[in-house]
Amino acid sequence: MPPRIWRRLFARLPMARSTRAYEFGLERLPTLPPGPVLDIGAGQGYGAAYLSRALAPRPVVSVDIELGCLKPARLEAGPVPPRFVLASATHLPFATDTFALAVAVMTFHCLPQPERVFREVFRTLRPGGVFLLADVDGHHWMARPFEVVEHLFISPLTRAYTPETLTALAREAGFAATAVHRRPGKERGFMQWFVARKAGALGD
Ligand SMILES: C[S@@+](CC[C@H](N)C(=O)[O-])C[C@H]1O[C@@H](n2cnc3c(N)ncnc32)[C@H](O)[C@@H]1O
Repeated sequence: MPPRIWRRLFARLPMARSTRAYEFGLERLPTLPPGPVLDIGAGQGYGAAYLSRALAPRPVVSVDIELGCLKPARLEAGPVPPRFVLASATHLPFATDTFALAVAVMTFHCLPQPERVFREVFRTLRPGGVFLLADVDGHHWMARPFEVVEHLFISPLTRAYTPETLTALAREAGFAATAVHRRPGKERGFMQWFVARKAGALGD
């Protein structure tokens, strides 16, 4: 079966509709400058809809290389519904210094050119803007089985990054401050929430 079919089948799983990783991440953010929000990897759109409710009235733009899984009619959006744009994280079609927050939940592991993605996110964030990346921690014992399953069914690009690699990528791209958060208990460190901030405006 081609990977696209598997992607659609995986999208039917309840966990693919969960917004918990978004919620946990937003609770750990530093103060944001004013401005719109970028969601990278729209999937079915539940995360973007959640952001449009949780961060209302900030406009939310969500990009994906494939918008076939979107379920716009099922989404509970905020007062300003998210806008979905067909684009790759490697070439963001937005002006420099646009966003207050960029979010990538369970997306970074399948992106090509991770250095380029970090540079694009850095470019499109405003001074003081924040990049929130929630994904599988490359140190976790489940990271390798996760990669194998993803390689077989979803994407040959999948790679679970360690916090050290993310920190190096963030520094290289120009980010000033970084932090890593984990949710104790449930998934025992399987997920990491990586936060990087672009210097400026808010005091550094
Ligand atoms: C596992 S889904 C995550 C969806 C959503 N963020 C969530 O947590 O529910 C990953 C998404 O990343 C998208 N994606 C893959 N490569 C991409 C790229 N280069 N640029 C933008 N999105 C990409 C896939 O099409 C897929 O919809």
